[in-house]
Amino acid sequence: MQSNVMWTEKYRPQKISELINQKETIGSLNSMLKNQLELPHLLFSGSAGVGKTTISLCICKEILGEYWKNYTLELNASDERGINMVRERVKKFSRFAGLDTKIPFKIIILDEADEMTSDAQTALRRIIEDTAKFCRFILIANNLSKIIEPIQSRCVVFKFTKVSEKDILLHLKQIGKNEKIKMDEKGLGAISAYADGDLRHAINILQASASTGNVTVDSVKSVIGLTKTNDVQNILKMAIDGKISESREKMIELIKVYGMSESDFLKYINQAIFNLKNDNIAEMSEITAKYDYRILAGANPEIQLSALLAELTKFSKK
Ligand SMILES: Nc1ncnc2c1ncn2[C@@H]1O[C@H](COP(=O)(O)OP(=O)(O)OP(=O)(O)O)[C@@H](O)[C@H]1O
Ligand SMILES: [Mg+2]
Repeated sequence: MQSNVMWTEKYRPQKISELINQKETIGSLNSMLKNQLELPHLLFSGSAGVGKTTISLCICKEILGEYWKNYTLELNASDERGINMVRERVKKFSRFAGLDTKIPFKIIILDEADEMTSDAQTALRRIIEDTAKFCRFILIANNLSKIIEPIQSRCVVFKFTKVSEKDILLHLKQIGKNEKIKMDEKGLGAISAYADGDLRHAINILQASASTGNVTVDSVKSVIGLTKTNDVQNILKMAIDGKISESREKMIELIKVYGMSESDFLKYINQAIFNLKNDNIAEMSEITAKYDYRILAGANPEIQLSALLAELTKFSKK
């Protein structure tokens, strides 16, 4: 059972029919795929860990067959240094080797398209038009409202829903059986509830708790606690390394996306400070206490926690 393989990858569906939930999307896609030549550009939106990237890859495999990797370009819009990079790579890709007669078109998957500025998206729209003869685009965006209208109107939009607690539970059970792990129903229930519709997150927690020997409510709780403590520790570390923007972004993600309360965040920060074993613990703790008090008195928590991290950057060794 012990191995280094990530279960999220090991159990990533290879065929559209293997995906769980997303029934409406799957139904419409299947009927579109009956007439591949007329497949439109696609835009997948929805929250994290629900199958957007997975289904995109399944579509590529289905249309492009065994050579799908040669004819698929996967781009991450947010980390590819701007639209020029996207343009260059798309250009090269759409030209290379012309079109093999065995495939109807090449496919470009553009992940995190909502992170592109609207200027970049306007440029992207041109690129989509210019390459339409040879390429289909699959755009992926967590936040549909950040995609400009002209792009939305050129794509068929699918909204992915969170995976229901019940389906997460069933899926975890299946993986657990396959991996022959010891687990109890309540432990699995705790994971499903905590994951809040994010199947990737649920599978990761399952794997981490299984590595402690037994999936029970207690092992699950300690895994969840551990990940949180680690996350906060990293945020503190970034702040005292002087990386204020990164640190603040992670803090906001932890609170907004993972639902950590502001008071828990402060509690974990305080713990992390005392684990630091450096000379500034007393002063750092005083600073934390100051912001704790301000939040308690009703000040805006996001502003206060940002200011806390900003103040902690003064301990960075320059
Ligand atoms: N609908 C699903 N059916 C089966 N497994 C799924 C499904 N959704 C997610 N998973 C599991 O979670 C992993 C991550 O899914 P995927 O990469 O498709 O998420 P995503 O929606 O693209 O998330 P993000 O927005 O964070 O990129 C998959 O490898 C798979 O193990
Ligand atoms: Mg994805």
